[in-house]
Amino acid sequence: MSMRKPLISGNWKMNLNHFEALKLVQELSYQVSREDVDAVDVSLHPPFTDIRTVQTVIESDRLPFLLGAQHCYHENSGAFTGEVSPAMLAKLNVAYVIVGHSERREIFGETDEVVNLKVKAILANDMTPILCCGETLDEREAGGAEAKVAGQIVAGLAGVSSDQVAAMVIAYEPIWAIGTGKTASAEDAQAMCAHVRATVALACGDAAADAVRIQYGGSVKPSNAAELMSQPDIDGALVGGACLEADSFGRIIQYRLAE
Ligand code: PGA
Repeated sequence: MSMRKPLISGNWKMNLNHFEALKLVQELSYQVSREDVDAVDVSLHPPFTDIRTVQTVIESDRLPFLLGAQHCYHENSGAFTGEVSPAMLAKLNVAYVIVGHSERREIFGETDEVVNLKVKAILANDMTPILCCGETLDEREAGGAEAKVAGQIVAGLAGVSSDQVAAMVIAYEPIWAIGTGKTASAEDAQAMCAHVRATVALACGDAAADAVRIQYGGSVKPSNAAELMSQPDIDGALVGGACLEADSFGRIIQYRLAE
């Protein structure tokens, strides 16, 4: 077994206002025990408007959750109307920032170059990037999944030191599995996560590849979390739809009970 501590991350996407956020985090805290989080790190990624609220409840109630964000700009301040900087997130004790989610890439046109700038800016502010990669169904059917994912990783990690990569998180999320209810089979997910690790080894060395945590994302649910998490190269899950309710997200965090 690897020494990598699993990381289960809840990507709330554009859901829940700050009142609803408070309710969800409190419900989750009743559901999840200290023992659960001894075995698994848990990060919550609310919308920006909820982050201060979630930070306050985590810190005042000493809840065992790490704070995350879904996105940021790559500059720390300036004339960038509508954007939020990594420095602002770091000031709120955000620990993890999702970068290059397929929705950001496909809907908002984020390129690999922009993703790389963000990875470096997040690291420069002492936060951990969760770098997302993944192929479309057309790319998979054309036999191009491995090349697409390797390209995203090599570009996203350009200029990042091996030590920094070792402490990072990479999320493999096949786009055809996101929000569709169609999870990749555990074998396919494992094969692609092993490919991600091999790509990191080539680009950044074996030590970084051995240490980097690789999440699977795409329709993770309580019913499939244990099988996915039992795969040797899957070190966590990036959960969308199923993280919006304390019961389902709690049961994913407690996937070991179902093993
Ligand atoms: P999903 O989303 O769990 O709803 O498929 C995953 C993600 O986009 O991170």
